Amino acid sequence: MAPPQTLPISQLGKDGPRVPRLGFGLMGLSIAYGPVPSEQDRLALLDHAWSLGATFWDTAQMYGDSEELVGKWFRLHPERRSDIFLATKFAIRSTVSAASPSSGPARISWTIDSSPEECRTACAESLQRLGTDYIDLYYVHRFDKTTPVEKTVEAMVELKEQGKIRHLGFSECSSSTLRRGYAVHPITAVQIEYHPWALEIESDAGTNLLATCRELGVAVVSYSPLGRGALTGRFKSLTDLDPTDLRTQLPRFHQDNFSQNLRLVQVIEEIAASKTLPASSSSQITSTQVTPAQLTLAWLLSQGPDIFPIPGTKSPHYLEQNLGALKVTITPDEDARIRAVIKELGGAAGYRTIGLTDSYSDTPPL
Ligand SMILES: NC(=O)c1ccc[n+]([C@@H]2O[C@H](COP(=O)([O-])OP(=O)(O)OC[C@H]3O[C@@H](n4cnc5c(N)ncnc54)[C@H](OP(=O)(O)O)[C@@H]3O)[C@@H](O)[C@H]2O)c1
Repeated sequence: MAPPQTLPISQLGKDGPRVPRLGFGLMGLSIAYGPVPSEQDRLALLDHAWSLGATFWDTAQMYGDSEELVGKWFRLHPERRSDIFLATKFAIRSTVSAASPSSGPARISWTIDSSPEECRTACAESLQRLGTDYIDLYYVHRFDKTTPVEKTVEAMVELKEQGKIRHLGFSECSSSTLRRGYAVHPITAVQIEYHPWALEIESDAGTNLLATCRELGVAVVSYSPLGRGALTGRFKSLTDLDPTDLRTQLPRFHQDNFSQNLRLVQVIEEIAASKTLPASSSSQITSTQVTPAQLTLAWLLSQGPDIFPIPGTKSPHYLEQNLGALKVTITPDEDARIRAVIKELGGAAGYRTIGLTDSYSDTPPL
């Protein structure tokens, strides 16, 4: 049985499949943002997402037990495997030290390996954990500094020829890496952080990656589209974060930076407060006033049909609310107001990830 509801869909990349315009990021269901719900609740959330038509799921080898969780769900509902457009990623092996109120946030350390050998090994392991025999979209999560991108793509093409993966994706690549990889085999999607706090993709700071994706016909999958939750307006102070929350380690959430970054959140809140959802909206949406989360996602969707945000949540309520963004229209004036305040602030303060060196990565020559 197909999901009872469907979302608006769009083609992922110029030759890619048609997928829901909004994806569902599964990282926070397993790691990073404080305590996670019980397995029963997490499986119920996956059920709920499926029933709402939110069937473009994003996981990764490095997201704790995320792939195992999806695998359990597939085993419970084997007939639903083909309803899900499943993306996962390889090339980061992580070790997570446990979080606790006394020792603070979980510490994640990782190694990056985008070699052909790791690509083959990691894919076999992911398929095993996921309990499926194919991955719809397989991303290089990060590029190491020793493997030419052509070699990584050749290994991915082998996996595709074996029927283990269906589409190829990159995450955090430079324009040059994308062009070189694309010359070996078309890349369907690039996953990168993109939202009003992270606009590097639009400029030299992000190697003009958005323009390169558009030239080649590669979709842009916007990760952390809610600014890791901050653009929802939910966090007014850093004390709102659980002490075990990974965000406490991110520069954008350091005290001085956070105070400045909240100014953009305030503008998003003001614009959201002035808008209501259209009357025809689904009964699943409890509030008729547009929320800051919806406004942020709608802003991203309004940047073009090639942008696919993948917000994450542990909550059925937020999941439903975020899907409401598909009904929100952003006017040119609202876009201009958001961009004006970003310009006035000089962008968000503090780098967006813990490590600078793995973003918009180049790889060595072949
Ligand atoms: N390629 C990469 O390197 C990379 C890096 C990071 C993330 N990702 C992918 O992107 C996905 C999404 O990113 P993300 O989870 O980092 O950040 P995000 O989607 O920007 O934000 C998630 C946070 O926002 C909160 N939230 C969600 N909807 C909300 C709403 N309507 N109102 C209030 N709060 C709301 C969530 O809270 P609750 O959890 O409490 O519901 C969570 O704390 C991940 O799951 C992962 O699949 C990829």
